[in-house]
Amino acid sequence: MRLLIIGGGGREHALVWKIAQSPRASKIYCAPGNAGIAQLAECVPLASDDLEGLLRFAREQQIDLTIVGPEDPLCAGIVDRFTAAGLRIFGPAASAAQLEGDKTYAKQLMRQAAIPTAEGRIFRDYQSAHDYIATRDHALVVKAAGLAKGKGVIICEEPAHALLALEEIMIKRIFGAAGEAVVVEEKLTGPEVSVQALVDGHHIYLLESSQDHKRVGDGDTGLNTGGMGAYSPTTLLSDALLQDISSQILVPMIDALIRQDIIYRGILYAGLMLTPAGPKVLEFNCRLGDPETQVLLPRMKNDLLDVLEATMAGRLDQITLEWDPRPAVCVVLSAAGYPGVYTKGQPISGLDSAADSPEVIVFHAGTAARGPQVVTQGGRVLGVTALGQTITEARTAAYSAIPRIHFEGMHYRHDIGHQALAATSKT
Ligand code: AMP
Ligand code: GLY
Repeated sequence: MRLLIIGGGGREHALVWKIAQSPRASKIYCAPGNAGIAQLAECVPLASDDLEGLLRFAREQQIDLTIVGPEDPLCAGIVDRFTAAGLRIFGPAASAAQLEGDKTYAKQLMRQAAIPTAEGRIFRDYQSAHDYIATRDHALVVKAAGLAKGKGVIICEEPAHALLALEEIMIKRIFGAAGEAVVVEEKLTGPEVSVQALVDGHHIYLLESSQDHKRVGDGDTGLNTGGMGAYSPTTLLSDALLQDISSQILVPMIDALIRQDIIYRGILYAGLMLTPAGPKVLEFNCRLGDPETQVLLPRMKNDLLDVLEATMAGRLDQITLEWDPRPAVCVVLSAAGYPGVYTKGQPISGLDSAADSPEVIVFHAGTAARGPQVVTQGGRVLGVTALGQTITEARTAAYSAIPRIHFEGMHYRHDIGHQALAATSKT
């Protein structure tokens, strides 16, 4: 099969790494890719939102299957475009991707389907949002409704802070057009988990659980990021709880979409908070998580191409996913300044030495090649992933590899997996 993977982050490196192991893959292209991906696939200088360019490329290169990593092209309708042109592509159509692309849509649908989520209100004009917040007396979360690279959410301990956040989002437009509408909701508390599932239109197949770490600083402090690290599986979710999440959240969401004549095919990602009142949805995403994919795919034993094709063909009831029982941990190494304005172009050293043991994989997230030198190119630069017999061993392997890597201003969290460790030490 001739394959095209769209995207150029850590998630896409993990996808390319996994697909390169398939005996069915004869040629892999990645657009735009990165310096790590370039070792496994041919990188094509097309941006992931260049729908026309990607369509032309897929036609010319006779691509058998295109796999979309990030949300932007999905929300912009890449799947609809490719499908209309008779090309095979993995991911949901734009109507289904709205679940991620428009938080007001997701909130309305959750309300209609009685899916547990934070109590919230939707506002399309600044004044009504302002008047509402002014009457509140507890912590609030203000969310830009549109796509904002995972950063469009401001958590406010005081309503006065929420008023400032509202002004930033709706008046100053710090997240651009994503701030045309907002969702203002109650602040929930509890550990956060990611539940991802394959959805083939009718069947739902849960992937192994994982936990991301959204805040930039140790101990879950500081600003929200796209994700500073993850581990899988998470000890926070029992099988019974996973079943509840499936029957009370995922199934009703797929049914609610079907009632709107929307058939969901692809990955459905639910970002959840395990509150004292049970799991509640923070967000839905229409694609694999980043960095969750970097801990999921190293544990998957199946040929990913078989799995994706079964999903596209509505045959999820005919496959069985098999997982390596060993836990995986991924620690993201970020550039100076991230998640704010960050530096680019810093030379990276030690990549080969860090990856010289079989249980360690260094996924590139934001890198580029400058001649023979790999340099930083994004805010999240690398994801050092390791497998181990226990979560402790996986962490030790990942954290022992990191000091071998160096770039100016590199920073990372030192406590990825801390909640799993706390749970283990209690048992
Ligand atoms: P979202 O993009 O909606 O998932 O929000 C990004 C991050 O903000 C989440 O992963 C949570 O860490 C946090 N967050 C979002 N909504 C809430 C909420 N209602 N209460 C507390 N934290 C939240
Ligand atoms: N890691 C969170 C996300 O992919 O949205």
